[in-house]
Amino acid sequence: MKHTETSGMKDQGFRAAMRHLPTAVAVLTVRTGTGPAGMTAGTVTSVSMDPELLSVSLRQGSRLTDAIADSGGFVVNLLQEHQSAIARWFASAERFGMTDEFHGIGWHPASNGGHPILADAACVFECRTEGQVPNGDHLLTIGWVTACRVSPSARPLLSYQGRYHKISNLAGDDAPASRLRA
Ligand SMILES: Cc1cc2nc3c(=O)[nH]c(=O)nc-3n(C[C@H](O)[C@H](O)[C@H](O)COP(=O)(O)O)c2cc1C
Repeated sequence: MKHTETSGMKDQGFRAAMRHLPTAVAVLTVRTGTGPAGMTAGTVTSVSMDPELLSVSLRQGSRLTDAIADSGGFVVNLLQEHQSAIARWFASAERFGMTDEFHGIGWHPASNGGHPILADAACVFECRTEGQVPNGDHLLTIGWVTACRVSPSARPLLSYQGRYHKISNLAGDDAPASRLRA
């Protein structure tokens, strides 16, 4: 969507308000011409069940946007709660100086496309790139999930208020979410 006007809000409060949104933390990975690349992303969302689509919002100019378009695919690795160091690493600028930004991080190539699958991820979605739609200063990247794998006992790493959290630290209401909708 093309936006011709800038917001009157000038970011007042928006960034701070969005920090109240707890999100699962993922690392997007893609095989590029110069090797594997990754970035931390907290905007992974389910889009459609049939077909199976997800979206992730990437800042325009992010290294991975071109690689995701060129390679035609990517992997979403949802991290486990003990993997915050990996989340920090793939959000840091330090990794740009490395010849191999995956050095010391366990991974294997997906059988389809060779995009990195991180060892021990809570959940892995292998995606075909369906489209990248500009929205403001981000690109909404749509992936068609061609394969996924879940570690049923794995607990996801969360981001909330600018910090990493374990789901077990959050107060819970035991009612199933599906019952709340009825
Ligand atoms: C918890 C967390 C979530 C993030 N989510 C996103 C996101 O959804 N989209 C995005 O563009 N950047 C996101 N970032 C920032 C990127 O990880 C960071 O800017 C990274 O360096 C981008 O990689 P690149 O410079 O290779 O494009 C997030 C960072 C953190 C710590």
